[in-house]
Amino acid sequence: MSNKRTILFATGNLHKFKEATLVLQEYGLKVARVDLKGSEIQAETVEEVAKVSAVQVAQQLQTQVIVEDTGIFIEALNGFPGPYSSYAYKTIGNKGILKLLKGISNRKAVFRSAVSYSKPNFSARCFSGVALGKIFHEERGSHGFGYDPIFKPFRGGDKTFAEMTIEDKNQYSHRSKALKKFAKWYCQNYECKS
Ligand code: IMP
Repeated sequence: MSNKRTILFATGNLHKFKEATLVLQEYGLKVARVDLKGSEIQAETVEEVAKVSAVQVAQQLQTQVIVEDTGIFIEALNGFPGPYSSYAYKTIGNKGILKLLKGISNRKAVFRSAVSYSKPNFSARCFSGVALGKIFHEERGSHGFGYDPIFKPFRGGDKTFAEMTIEDKNQYSHRSKALKKFAKWYCQNYECKS
């Protein structure tokens, strides 16, 4: 496998790494992981966060790299936690989100993912993916991570992401959609499948 076909994914999250490995292998791309994400700036959009950190990590490691950033935006909470998804998860968690939504019938939410690619002395290319769905009334399932137990994508039957295998989640997830866009772009510009 040539270096051209190995993408370094800067993430401390093994779940994200596994999801990306399965998606990108369909395009003949191998994924290696580095436990680094650059500085996570506070910004309105996941795209800005992913771009800044991809440029930083590529410059630091002097190699091509992808970085991914996700947020969950809940309609009835005016988009909260959005850019604060990580902080909200660490502080109030899924139970806190369920409490905030108690008695609220509008459960619509969207996961937004941005996958950003950079290499030394190159700005960054960014690819976005969304998963539309709703916040369930309780936590369900033991797969996945983060908000997976409370998020049911509109497509994908009646299951939360945490009730799905990685392969199933990859059919519907924000991250797999962004990764697929990245892979298509990458394979048009660099050598992928032989
Ligand atoms: P980050 O992209 O790692 O900054 O994620 C922000 C927050 O969203 C963290 O609390 C993650 O656990 C959560 N998160 C990110 N991606 C997913 C996902 O695919 N499913 C559920 N939660 C996620």
